[in-house]
Amino acid sequence: MLKNIQLPLQAVLLKFEGWFDNPFGPEWNPLRHLGALSFFFFWVVAVSGVYVYIFFETSVSGAFQSVESLTHDQPYIGGIMRSFHRYASDAMVVTTFIHLAREFVMDRYRGVRWFTWFTGVPIIWLLYASGIGGYWLVWDELAQYLMIASAEWLDWLSIFGEPLANNFLTPEAFKDRMFSLLLFLHIAIPLFLLIACFIHVVKISRPRINPPKGLAIGTLIMLTVLSLVKPAVSHGPANLDKVVVNVELDWFYAIAYPLFDMWGAGALWLIALTLSIFIACLPWMPKLTFQEAAEVDNLNCNGCSRCYADCPFGAVTMQPRTDGRPYPRIAQVDPDICTSCGICVGSCPTATPFRSQEMLITGIDLPHFRLTKLRADTDASLDRLPDVLPEGAPRIIIYGCDHGIDVDKIESANVVVTSLPCIGMLPPSFIDYILMKEKADGVLLTGCREGDCYHRFGIHWTEQRLSGERDPYLRKRVPKERVWTCWGAVTDNAKLKQQIDDFSTHLKNLPTSQEAAE
Ligand code: HEM
Ligand code: SF4
Ligand code: SF4
Repeated sequence: MLKNIQLPLQAVLLKFEGWFDNPFGPEWNPLRHLGALSFFFFWVVAVSGVYVYIFFETSVSGAFQSVESLTHDQPYIGGIMRSFHRYASDAMVVTTFIHLAREFVMDRYRGVRWFTWFTGVPIIWLLYASGIGGYWLVWDELAQYLMIASAEWLDWLSIFGEPLANNFLTPEAFKDRMFSLLLFLHIAIPLFLLIACFIHVVKISRPRINPPKGLAIGTLIMLTVLSLVKPAVSHGPANLDKVVVNVELDWFYAIAYPLFDMWGAGALWLIALTLSIFIACLPWMPKLTFQEAAEVDNLNCNGCSRCYADCPFGAVTMQPRTDGRPYPRIAQVDPDICTSCGICVGSCPTATPFRSQEMLITGIDLPHFRLTKLRADTDASLDRLPDVLPEGAPRIIIYGCDHGIDVDKIESANVVVTSLPCIGMLPPSFIDYILMKEKADGVLLTGCREGDCYHRFGIHWTEQRLSGERDPYLRKRVPKERVWTCWGAVTDNAKLKQQIDDFSTHLKNLPTSQEAAE
């Protein structure tokens, strides 16, 4: 049932994301940096907020004019800062909601990710409270409308001794003291929002909280252009003697207010709370269960801590060793956090196919997909390759992963496939084993789209291992020109087919090992 909802939405999302890959490139694609962009917008709002605060007058009579003079009396820096403050706040709503939708559609919110999802829900409330609170401070007609409607909404709960709305009955009732309280709230709530954002990512190992530099600079340029072309302006000044009849709403923040007018406070509380509880409970509807957690083998772990460094979920810790073996530490896996991705197996120095079958017990392994199975699958696939192919077609073995391009139906006369839980599980020594023993002419690795590994770092670590930047790296003796990568999503079959053709042509043009030796 859940898959019936997720898969069609995933296809749409991946299509859009693919289009964005062209102008931005996979590295800067904003749809892959939505959490980081939300953080970035927060900082833009914070810095521009400090600027606006310096010129802000905290009084009923002076607030409106002080904000207006930012736009009209210092049009460049003041107007831009005010516009930054507003447009970056709006942008934060957009990136936050697309981020939420994306995590749901890509099924990255259940299992170990439940905490990150769950803590995202209070973020939405704090984000709205921060934004609406900002609009009150301008004290124009929009502020008046939002202020009175918000007060009536809160009054429905009857938790305040005196109804809040009484403060806005007449101009005399609205005092500077109340205005100072609003300003305090507009500083305190965003601070809570920031704390909530950090709690949100606390359980993520190496969270990406900053967008790539190019994306950040491009975003700032876009905000500046927007601020110059359409500077943020106010409505007419608030006047509590008059009823506000016509205001232009900021739909990013005030979308619920027309509903409040139509349905009343009680209905809106019911909708907001039901929706929040529903979203918060999604990780258990139904719960995601992973295969058995990775296991450490005491006799084979030498405490090198590579698995600890590579685990994308922080499931591995290094513990003091107590069994008398000559290594000070040993890896330990927390089964409640482990997603059975196998990336730790790919990083373990003991995971090499050059060892004999009996010796192929690794420091760390997946009970449901042991390294022995990977080697057996690899050998079985290689056995399906004929020794010689017509017209010198190169023999290729493809390693696919469970979450990326579907490699199931890709086999042909000269192409065989082996699949594993995550491409990050593949120790580079397997490529060495295949190419040095000339069991195939080329090895092609596929996984999810670049920057979008389901297990977070599978692709990144693989790239680094291939290029020699990360242990265990692909040994220098391996002919790198015979190794190819193709990163893509489940819907990118056509791309893989094209890449196989390109790789075949490339391999055909390479000298054979005999020619190279001569
Ligand atoms: C201001 C709002 C938010 C900010 C700044 C933010 C920021 C982030 C960041 C930086 C990450 C880590 C990304 C990575 O390293 O791969 C993340 C992950 C995540 N966020 Fe948010 N987030 C926000 C709102 C939300 C909301 C509202 C939800 C959903 C209710 C949500 C759900 C998630 C989930 C499920 C992940 C885990 C993704 C993964 O492990 O692959 N976030 N967020
Ligand atoms: S299988 Fe994946 S999540 Fe589990 S310990 Fe290994 S790297 Fe970490
Ligand atoms: S990578 Fe292997 S040898 Fe190194 S600490 Fe982890 S399990 Fe032990």
